[in-house]
Amino acid sequence: MAAPLWPMHGANLGTLLRTCDAVGACLAVPPFDWVNGALERGNTLRHPTCVHRIGSPLRWLDRERRAGAHVLGVELADEAIRLADLPAARRRTIVVLGHEADGIPPEALNLLDAAVEIPMVGHGLSLNVAVAGSLVLYKVAGLL
Ligand SMILES: C[S@@+](CC[C@H](N)C(=O)[O-])C[C@H]1O[C@@H](n2cnc3c(N)ncnc32)[C@H](O)[C@@H]1O
Repeated sequence: MAAPLWPMHGANLGTLLRTCDAVGACLAVPPFDWVNGALERGNTLRHPTCVHRIGSPLRWLDRERRAGAHVLGVELADEAIRLADLPAARRRTIVVLGHEADGIPPEALNLLDAAVEIPMVGHGLSLNVAVAGSLVLYKVAGLL
């Protein structure tokens, strides 16, 4: 399940929704009014998609974790696993994506079981969130 829980740009939600469809994952989104419109605009698939509308992101992550899900943050972090070393998921996995400007909020970091980072050798400091999420979703799904 892809979880862009603090989104800023609707276009990224549409892109992630298409990747979710491609790898057989669902998308979890927060209860912001503008999110539904963004998903409708971004859903070029024209068929039903799997979208979970969650309540409070922190409470939802905590509940998922207690219920046995593996909560995997996608973030550049010292202790993060490199994408190439990330195994395919063997149980329910929540792929948590950060805010486009601020990343994953500090209060959510201790709800992560692990973090994965995508190595970068260029001059940019980070990837677009939908690109980063798509790469990780393919790896988690075992399709790469
Ligand atoms: C544009 S980045 C956020 C950059 C922000 N300035 C920061 O310091 O975290 C938005 C999100 O994309 C994901 N992301 C972008 N590049 C990444 C990378 N190389 N490895 C892992 N996650 C990445 C993370 O989920 C991040 O929170």
